[in-house]
Amino acid sequence: MASIEVPPDWENLTFSAMAGVILVIGAPDTGKTTFARYLYKRLMEHHQRVGFLDGDMGQTTLGPPTTMTLALAGAPEESWPPCGPRFRTFVGSVSPRGHMLATVVGAHRLVQRATENGATAIVYDTTGLVAAEQGGGALKLALVDLLEPGVVIGLQRGTELEHLLVPLRCSGRTRAVDRSVTLAVQRRDVATRRAYRAEQFRRAFEGSGRMEVDWSGRAVVPGPSFARHRLVALEDAQGFVLGLGIVTGRDSHRQAVELYTPVPSLDGVDTLHLGDVTLDPETFCDQPL
Ligand SMILES: Nc1ncnc2c1ncn2[C@@H]1O[C@H](COP(=O)(O)OP(=O)(O)OP(=O)(O)O)[C@@H](O)[C@H]1O
Ligand SMILES: [Mg+2]
Repeated sequence: MASIEVPPDWENLTFSAMAGVILVIGAPDTGKTTFARYLYKRLMEHHQRVGFLDGDMGQTTLGPPTTMTLALAGAPEESWPPCGPRFRTFVGSVSPRGHMLATVVGAHRLVQRATENGATAIVYDTTGLVAAEQGGGALKLALVDLLEPGVVIGLQRGTELEHLLVPLRCSGRTRAVDRSVTLAVQRRDVATRRAYRAEQFRRAFEGSGRMEVDWSGRAVVPGPSFARHRLVALEDAQGFVLGLGIVTGRDSHRQAVELYTPVPSLDGVDTLHLGDVTLDPETFCDQPL
């Protein structure tokens, strides 16, 4: 990890008392991901196995956009990215807006997987959707209800998280603390974020080829509407992502679709899960469907 500025109020957190899910929240460009990685590293000093949940399906750090990825530390020593097992769920969009159920259900399943794999601390790096009027408050409170985090750590510049933190500070169901945002945080504009997503997608499609898929008799959700360049997740029987695909052709008479995908074969593919974005297979720029 490149050297980062660690404010004193990060260092005085009681890392030894943190266990279970640790929810990191904040508006866009508040240093959530940097802080979450710092926290992950510090928690490795106190736990045999720590999980890192990259829960931002837009500016992803551990997988392609439209997905959320759980990575588990493979060794006691600090390593980044974690080299242990990985599990991924599909949200189908680069934002939780309009996709709250997939976000919440996916997070729950990944936390379950982390626990089953022996993680005793799980750092959950969330999206910057916190504004109450956009549903950010409801989303974060739903995650608190469902995941029962031991701690919610908010990074805020002003009072933008108070609508969430005030009730949580008074509640016995979690412990809510806030930390200041460092001046070292660099803000990213919309174009930079788009370019970053395209690069993350490009990496995920490295080594891809075209594969014809006969989808008759196969689960297709939400339904077999194979629009050109629509993004598809190929999921296993547990609902975890084996890889993504882009629709490059279809033959509706034969119930067949051609996908551009890095997935080498249909072995283990249970479901074709269609997303709500299209992805250009040359530029890897995403567009809403
Ligand atoms: N403590 C820090 N020291 C040095 N650089 C930092 C620090 N925190 C954040 N940055 C830099 O600021 C940028 C944005 O930080 P980061 O990605 O952690 O923010 P974020 O809140 O996760 O953003 P997003 O809303 O896109 O998820 C990154 O380039 C990161 O390297
Ligand atoms: Mg982030």
